[in-house]
Amino acid sequence: MLAALELLDGGQLLHSQTTNFHFTQEILHLIPSKCYADALVIYCTYLTERRALNMKTLVLGASGQIGAYTVQDLVEFSKAEVVAASRKLENVKKAMTDLNLGDRVKVMELDANNRDAVAKTVKSEGVDTVVNCAWYQTNIAVMNACLRAGAHYTDLGGFFDTSLKQLEFDKEWKKAGLNATIGLGSTPGLTNIAGAAGAAKLDKVDTINIYCSWGNTLPVKEPGWPGYSVRTVLDEFTQEPVMWLDGKHVKQPVLSGETTVTMQEPIGKVTAYYVKHSEPATLGRYVGKGCRNVTFRIGFPSTDFATFSTLKSLGFAETEGIQFGDQRISPLDYLTAMYQRAIAKSRHDTPPSEEYEYDAFRIDVFGVRNESPATVTYHIITWNDPQRGIPSARDTSVPPAVISHWQATGKIKDPGVFPPEATVDPEPFFIEMGKRKIRAEEHFTETKKFY
Ligand SMILES: NC(=O)c1ccc[n+]([C@@H]2O[C@H](COP(=O)([O-])OP(=O)(O)OC[C@H]3O[C@@H](n4cnc5c(N)ncnc54)[C@H](OP(=O)(O)O)[C@@H]3O)[C@@H](O)[C@H]2O)c1
Repeated sequence: MLAALELLDGGQLLHSQTTNFHFTQEILHLIPSKCYADALVIYCTYLTERRALNMKTLVLGASGQIGAYTVQDLVEFSKAEVVAASRKLENVKKAMTDLNLGDRVKVMELDANNRDAVAKTVKSEGVDTVVNCAWYQTNIAVMNACLRAGAHYTDLGGFFDTSLKQLEFDKEWKKAGLNATIGLGSTPGLTNIAGAAGAAKLDKVDTINIYCSWGNTLPVKEPGWPGYSVRTVLDEFTQEPVMWLDGKHVKQPVLSGETTVTMQEPIGKVTAYYVKHSEPATLGRYVGKGCRNVTFRIGFPSTDFATFSTLKSLGFAETEGIQFGDQRISPLDYLTAMYQRAIAKSRHDTPPSEEYEYDAFRIDVFGVRNESPATVTYHIITWNDPQRGIPSARDTSVPPAVISHWQATGKIKDPGVFPPEATVDPEPFFIEMGKRKIRAEEHFTETKKFY
């Protein structure tokens, strides 16, 4: 009976949105025994919500194209208390002000590579979870700080090699009882979760092919940029991609594997190329079921493809400094600074009043079900949201916010280091995405043989 008393009181408190938990003996008499089951559900929801209301998250790289909107999602959807940080206080302040978050988050100057400072902040701020939206080269340092300070961790991906290194820390994280779910943007992220969801519907898996594209529906195409760091774009144009082929990681030439793929309407056919990415690093091993091949291709809009090819041939991917008067600066750092300026400016522009720019993914999972060939295909599309004034790149900023919330509320609690396909339950995850107009569709094709 005492438990039942807690149940009803929990429900009432949830309803009144208060976080103070009291219960009184009088309530006990109000619960008819046949309502205990309902009361139990209400109580569990209450406890989850209560933990969420107390959730505190540190977002690193919060001035970036992705990180700023991750903060926004955490504040608006998860009601989290957020500490938003980047290396330059004025950058993060400006980003938060532009998104009307200035008085709703604490801003801070913090270098993600400074392990001691990150660990100290996690402890002094009482942070439960950390989302690392700074460049992927900082992932290992931030993980180390979280492990020392006792916070769960997520990030936007490790560009193949760093992801594999991060997974090597699994034992330490298991021992500490903390969860690190890595590589959680749109790609990697949504794509891994869709790949695993498709694999779960099949008895055996042969191949997972992933395609990514973006663009706009303007009659005359604007020159644009992808929804991810220009540094990563140039990595993609210069580093050899690695695919999972016949159960092994196999290097391919840069931008090879040209193929034509049909994306969801209104996009239609795009030409796509192999690009180095984290999905082929992990998916084959983690989905199991005999998965022999995982490939990843990007269908760049032709304007962007030309722009980035030109930047590469001009040497903008180079990290070696060039002397300008008495200053030495690398072409890549110079380009990054120009890009950060453009991103900051675009957040200040009047948002478009119509849907016109998109991010789209197609994930084909080929295998066998009931001894017949079967294919599960996911199409995921996100348009800019004119009502909220948020670009389509929220398909990258929202997933780590949701996973951070799930870590804080115990919905994801396995200790260790995992890629998204190993810890994230696809259906509730895609339902959360749907609430932000990130739309995932599943199509299933089974072959029936009459011979
Ligand atoms: N999984 C996916 O779908 C996906 C999609 C997009 C991007 N990404 C990856 O996510 C990362 C961020 O991408 P983005 O497009 O948001 O890049 P971005 O716009 O360049 O933003 C990164 C931000 O991190 C901050 N930063 C850089 N180094 C830092 C450090 N040491 N400590 C703290 N903050 C630091 C920078 O701001 P300050 O100069 O103010 O420090 C910058 O504003 C990239 O590695 C990218 O490849 C993944």
